[in-house]
Order: sequence, then C-alpha cells, then structure tokens
Amino acid sequence: MGKCCCLWVHFFFLLWCTAKAWSQQRDPSQVPCFFIFGDSLVDNGNNNGILTLARANYMPYGVDFPSGTTGRFTNGRTFVDILAQLLGFDSYIPPFGRVRGRELLRGVNYASGAAGIRDETGNNLGDHMAMNQQVENFARTVEVLRRFFRGDNYTLNAYLSKCIFYVGMGSNDYLNNYFMPDFYSTHSDFTPQAYAAALLKDYLQQLTNLHGLGARKIVVTSVGQIGCIPYELARYNGNDSKCNEEINNAITIFNTGLKRLVDQFNKGQLPGSKFVYLDSFASSKDLVANARRYGFEVVDKGCCGVGKNNGQITCLPLQQPCDDRSKYIFWDAFHPTEVANILLAKKAFSSTSKVFAYPINIQQLAMM
Ligand SMILES: *[C@@H]1O[C@H](CO)[C@@H](O)[C@H](O)[C@H]1NC(C)=O
Ligand SMILES: *[C@@H]1O[C@H](CO)[C@@H](O)[C@H](O)[C@H]1NC(C)=O
Repeated sequence: MGKCCCLWVHFFFLLWCTAKAWSQQRDPSQVPCFFIFGDSLVDNGNNNGILTLARANYMPYGVDFPSGTTGRFTNGRTFVDILAQLLGFDSYIPPFGRVRGRELLRGVNYASGAAGIRDETGNNLGDHMAMNQQVENFARTVEVLRRFFRGDNYTLNAYLSKCIFYVGMGSNDYLNNYFMPDFYSTHSDFTPQAYAAALLKDYLQQLTNLHGLGARKIVVTSVGQIGCIPYELARYNGNDSKCNEEINNAITIFNTGLKRLVDQFNKGQLPGSKFVYLDSFASSKDLVANARRYGFEVVDKGCCGVGKNNGQITCLPLQQPCDDRSKYIFWDAFHPTEVANILLAKKAFSSTSKVFAYPINIQQLAMM
C-alpha cells in the first residue's frame, strides 16, 4: 500500500462527500411541489387564528406529532403529511398562513376545518376558508410565484404542471350542511340527487379554475363513509353501532358523479390535465371490514371523545385519550388516527387495484 493508493482513497472520499452534499441540497422529492386543498382531514393549522369551533390547536390533538399540537385534527400525521413523505419531501407542506417567500415554491396547504364546496357549509361552527376562498388564496400564491419567475409565464406554467394538487372536499357539505336541517335549508330545498348535482356543478367550476391557474396533476378525493363515523353512530339507531345508510347513500350519489367528472376531465375537457380519483369511501370501508388484519381492535369509537361511541362531541381540551392509539381507526368523533391515515395514504400512493386510486395511483401520477 503506497502513499499513492492512500491519495486515491482520499480523492474518492472527497468526490463521494461532494456528491452527497449536492444530492442533499437538491430537493429529494419526486415532484417539485405539492399544493393541498381541503377540510379538517388535512388542515394543518390554518384555522388556528380563526373564530371557529372547528379548531384543534390544543392537547391532546398532536399528542403523537413530533412538534406536538399544531392544529392538525388527529393525534399525529394527517393523510397529506404521509403523502408528502411518500413523495420524498423532507419536511411537511406548511399552512397558508405561515409560508413566506421562496418556501412557496415547494407548495402550500390551504385546507381549513369545516370548509366545503359551498361557501355557507360549516357556518354552524364559525368562520373558515371555503373551497372558493382556498382557490383565491392559491391565485395569490401564483402571483407571488410569477415574480420569482420574472414574469415568465411559460416557465411558471411548466413548473406548476409538475406539481401535485390534492383536493379533498365534500364531507362538510353533508355533515355540516345537508344533514343539519336545523341550521340549513338544503335538505328541504334539494333531493339527494339534486344536492349532489349542485355540489358537482360548483366543484367542476372550482377545479376548472385551478386548472386555469396552472394545475395539471390533480388528485380528487371522494367523501368517506361518513354514515359510519362515531359522530353518526352516536346519533343513530340505538346501541348497536349501525351506520347511517341515508347519509352513506346520499354520499354515494356524489362520489359516483365525481368519478364520472374525473373521466370527463381526463378525456380532454381540461387540456393537459391528469386527474386521479381516490375512493375514500372504499378505502375507509376496507379499514373497518379488515380491521383485525390491520391491527385495529376498536372500529366504532373515537380514541378521544365524549358520550356514546366517544362520538357525541370532539375530543376536549386536555382530555385523556385512549392509551393505545394504534388499536383505533378513529381518533375522535370525526377524524382517523395517524395509523389509519398511514394505511389510507399508502393505498392512495401505491395501490394498483384501481379500486382505491383510479385510473392510476399517486406514485404513477408523480412520475408522469
Ligand atoms: C402572464 O400571465 C398573466 C396572468 O394571466 C398576465 O396578466 C400577463 O400579461 C402574462 N405575461 C406575459 C408576458 O404574457
Ligand atoms: C341502550 O343502552 C342503554 C344502557 O345500556 C339502555 O338503557 C337502552 O335501553 C338502550 N337503548 C336501545 C335503543 O337499545
């Protein structure tokens, strides 16, 4: 072993160090940016400064999250936090209210608890940013990005076309609107068919506006099986934890129409776009049907909550949650636990069955 060999080792070590430093500087993610629109299932703190009951910025929300309470409506990571990790982002996508400057280039989370497709949805809980507002907030972001690209629309649009857009809306249009007849007139104004059609008409416009602003890779989520969440189980059918099928049936009409809309978009109605339909209804049903296989022991109660099924109201400030969160599908009356979110996100990301992600999964969308 001569001095020369030693030098070569040093040389390759330096080369390796340089390559590693360079690869760490680059964003390791599969797509450059990730923009998120939705409700409390994916809100990560946008409602913290808003006058509303739809807020989760108190313990024990976030009890299993590395930085504790953030405004996320679960014990740990949300569905989109896990998607961001699966996409290779090395930190979570920040909430709209907190993101500044060039950080905007990685994406923004506009989601707001209690929000819906309709502006009035969620008003029973207070203020929120409805889908129309979230799209407007994205338009403001695009104006800032345009400055970063020195007004070069072509390059800006090429950049935005690589981003993933996640849109999950509709749950509150049923929970905190249609099925709350004391507060809203929609249940008497519309049949379930007419209500789904009215929602889809508005949603079509909102998604078209996103496309107009530059979105191309768009993931839309159907409404989950909310006739079976602890909140509904607590209110329905005596003691035997029967799902509310009137709600599930109304949602199925909406979901079927949404899937048809995705086909329509993919057939060229929105040029250059690629839509993915996530079937939350099927994936949430699968979690309950195969609970044992996934390691769940409790499928009909929130881990933290009050009253029957722990579903009468949400988890209260400083309330003691259940000990083993990994045994519960539901964290509170409405929202899944982190463990459930991990299972749901993995399905959306890489399932090839077309049942959960249609016509392709998010991983395939990212690679396009
Ligand atoms: C870029 O797009 C914006 C918004 O559509 C428009 O106002 C502006 O004139 C465009 N700039 C150029 C250079 O075409
Ligand atoms: C539900 O359970 C309670 C207490 O266990 C009982 O008193 C009540 O009669 C039950 N109600 C129905 C509808 O079965």
